[in-house]
Amino acid sequence: MSATSKRSLFDIFKGFSKLSYIDRLKALTEVKVLSEADQNFLKTGGLQDVRLAEKFIENVIGYFQIPLGVATNFNIDGKDYIIPMAVEETSIIAAASKTAKWVRENGSIATEIIGQSIIGQIQFAKVKDFTVFEKEILRQKNYLIELANREVAFGLVKRGGGVNDLKIRKLERDDGFIMAVIHIYMNPCDAMGANIMNQVCEYLKTPLQELTGETVTMCILSNLVDSKLTKATVTIHTIEPELALKIEEASRFAELDSYRAATNNKGVLNGIDPILVATGNDWRAVEAGIHAYAAMSGQYKSITKWRKIGETLVGTLTAPIIVGTVGGVTTLHPSAQISMKLLGVTSANELSRIMAAVGLVQNLGALKALTTVGIIEGHMKLHIKNLSLGAGATENEMPFVVKRLEEILSLTKRISLSNAVEVLNDIRKQTNH
Ligand code: MEV
Repeated sequence: MSATSKRSLFDIFKGFSKLSYIDRLKALTEVKVLSEADQNFLKTGGLQDVRLAEKFIENVIGYFQIPLGVATNFNIDGKDYIIPMAVEETSIIAAASKTAKWVRENGSIATEIIGQSIIGQIQFAKVKDFTVFEKEILRQKNYLIELANREVAFGLVKRGGGVNDLKIRKLERDDGFIMAVIHIYMNPCDAMGANIMNQVCEYLKTPLQELTGETVTMCILSNLVDSKLTKATVTIHTIEPELALKIEEASRFAELDSYRAATNNKGVLNGIDPILVATGNDWRAVEAGIHAYAAMSGQYKSITKWRKIGETLVGTLTAPIIVGTVGGVTTLHPSAQISMKLLGVTSANELSRIMAAVGLVQNLGALKALTTVGIIEGHMKLHIKNLSLGAGATENEMPFVVKRLEEILSLTKRISLSNAVEVLNDIRKQTNH
């Protein structure tokens, strides 16, 4: 991010949350992260023209708009990032930014990609003779890979990717027959790869049937991509030993218990999903992959792990996060393009690493809050404005209602819409007297 190299993004974002949204847009334009055109596009409410929607889906009747914000303070692998997040849940962005600041001041975030290939599956529901089938495919393995690369994945090969392996799996059915599944492994470069993988599998169907005399039942990519994992590691050097232990205990809970693991992973996805949405990536695919990976041992488990090691707290997240930076909605949707600009990433792997880092930091923020003050206070403080609006407070009445509700919250640790209605009624009575 050359335009901002003189001042770090950390400096630029000091007091950012206190600015009006117009001033936030101005600040991002001043540092040349956004252009004047981007600023105007966002100021006028984003995408209005339904013709683009009609390119994406059928039976269009409009757009469904959710807020787009930015999480600040993230320094990942030594580089400052602005994180675009499209999300409706109060406090996700605030918690991410606050925790990222804490990590930045007391530790670091490192990320890596383990493996490079996505998986496609070709099913043979009932094979007559698995041994002969396996032998024949293995004999022709290199030919099949070359064929797929020459006829379908040639564009990826030019960019350093393409099909690179093939494996055969044997599944025992409950009716005595054997099901065979071929896994195709392919490096999709900067694409998410679903379309090209499905094309490769469909293309291989005929040669495979001819070679083996067996029948292909279906072909599709798999979202459980254990052959390409993204890992993030957060290390906190300066931390109260008691807090580090509490976070470790919260982590052990999610590692041992599926009920807790589901909520823990939901908190991680609070960090990942909004970036997937903002960048026009397929969040259903990533969700499915992450949950399937979390259950791979036979028990649904946490995808994060925190340990106090000496004086340090170390957390890791490992999961498949398969995303693209080219093609589909990412390229066509102007808001996704703006999000990509904000991120300033140069590859799909970099985007995936950022998502893992934000997911892990979001998890840390949740565990820190849950094991200390609880999440109600932080959540509700931000929710007070929504409650005041919900009760019908006008712009003039808002500051008074908010102040009174904050007092009630700090006294009772609880607050609801009926409190807001009561407070508003009291204020109106007092002003009428
Ligand atoms: C709420 O959106 C997310 C949390 O429940 C996550 C967690 O429990 O770890 C706070």
